[in-house]
Amino acid sequence: MPYYHHSYDNDEPIFASLRHEIMANWVEKNWIPQNPETDWVMVGTDKVCLNPKNLELFTQSVVLKAGYRFAGRKPTGHAILPFVMQHDHQGKIDETTGSYIYRFTLGTVDVVEVLVLSVYFSDGWHQVCMACVPQEFLSVWADFLTTCRRLAYPEQSVMVIGGNQRNFEPRVTWDEIILEDDLKQTILKEVENFYTRGVAIYQRLNINPFRKILLAGVPGTGKTMLCNALAKWAIDKGYQAIYVSSADANGAQFWKIQQALHTAAHSQKPALILLEELDAYLNAHEKALILNVLDGSESFANKQGTLLIATTNYPESIDERVLKRPGRLDRIYIIPPIKNAELAERMLKHYLGDLWLPEHVELAPKLVGYPGAFIREVAVFALTQLVDLDADTLTLDVLQSSFERLQAQIEARDEFIITQRKPEDETDEESAIDCEEGGAK
Ligand SMILES: Nc1ncnc2c1ncn2[C@@H]1O[C@H](COP(=O)(O)OP(=O)(O)OP(=O)(O)O)[C@@H](O)[C@H]1O
Ligand SMILES: [Mg+2]
Repeated sequence: MPYYHHSYDNDEPIFASLRHEIMANWVEKNWIPQNPETDWVMVGTDKVCLNPKNLELFTQSVVLKAGYRFAGRKPTGHAILPFVMQHDHQGKIDETTGSYIYRFTLGTVDVVEVLVLSVYFSDGWHQVCMACVPQEFLSVWADFLTTCRRLAYPEQSVMVIGGNQRNFEPRVTWDEIILEDDLKQTILKEVENFYTRGVAIYQRLNINPFRKILLAGVPGTGKTMLCNALAKWAIDKGYQAIYVSSADANGAQFWKIQQALHTAAHSQKPALILLEELDAYLNAHEKALILNVLDGSESFANKQGTLLIATTNYPESIDERVLKRPGRLDRIYIIPPIKNAELAERMLKHYLGDLWLPEHVELAPKLVGYPGAFIREVAVFALTQLVDLDADTLTLDVLQSSFERLQAQIEARDEFIITQRKPEDETDEESAIDCEEGGAK
């Protein structure tokens, strides 16, 4: 059986490893023979899952990865480790050691058991905690721990589901996003109005204050940037912001949306959920679940309001039951590529910074129709050329050739994609939704 342990701050390694050994030996002799067919892994774990106050926060609506639910724990009944309790100032137990079996259910049938062992190993009440987990259950166990921490310490910043917290720091300011002023203002107003006025209206009508907006657009037009700026806006207001990404090994799975809704519902604050790439979740298998959620599942109600902002590159792959049925998506905004030379100029200026020269304006009309990410690349590539040329002013020629080079790359790529495309894909365009660019549904 593999045996790992992770270190804790200020651990005294000798004591810690001794306790690990005692526990691992006991597990090998007593636990594994009871369930020899399971492929067990012994891992160091976090004492956050030993605190009964934290475990009480797992209600039926807390759904873990792959749809599992935590169903409680019981002592193993073996006196292998002492049960030592600590309590808070109200007399509630908030720390324990001992040996426990944690149970997880999937629907009503499957039960997975995890053995958790913990003991103090120093006079300073340092605790060492280990879990013996079925190998194939490890990722759900990891999610259980993350969820424990999230419930125990509600985040001050954006909660990230499906990715590393550090991958989504809310840093983008509203000014950095270059879009038509009208569109930018409309989106921000819509978001603000929901919290300031909309929620009260929903409440008066006795319906769940849950509003859903879709941002659609080709890659690189700034949808993720908008999400980031909105998350920052929400955090600054003291709201709960939740970012759901499918860009981790788990991909687009419904339990991520469930976790987001649960966090929103249990937050004491107004909540903003940012759900990237909605289309990826709408696979045949889970579509019905998503439709249900978009209908405004009452079990996830937050009285202070939940606003869900989803993004997609492929509105055509979101079927009509989502797009056109009133109430499932309340509003759709198309985030377009650069629409005119004035915006292209603003974007170039923004990315060239101090190296911007009035003569660069000549390139602006050629940039119309490209997404913001392309213009940023033109600028970045030109600036790297400058370093190679050891120059300190960026001539129009260098900028122009940077543009031509990237344009040629894109054309070559598009041609490649067109020739690779199967004939049946050609019909995709016909089912594209009839939405005005930059407009709302
Ligand atoms: N409207 C914009 N204003 C300023 N910068 C932009 C804009 N659009 C794109 N960019 C630049 O391009 C980068 C990529 O944009 P972003 O990730 O927001 O696009 P996206 O619409 O989310 O793309 P995708 O659909 O592929 O996820 C941004 O980090 C930013 O540097
Ligand atoms: Mg994006």
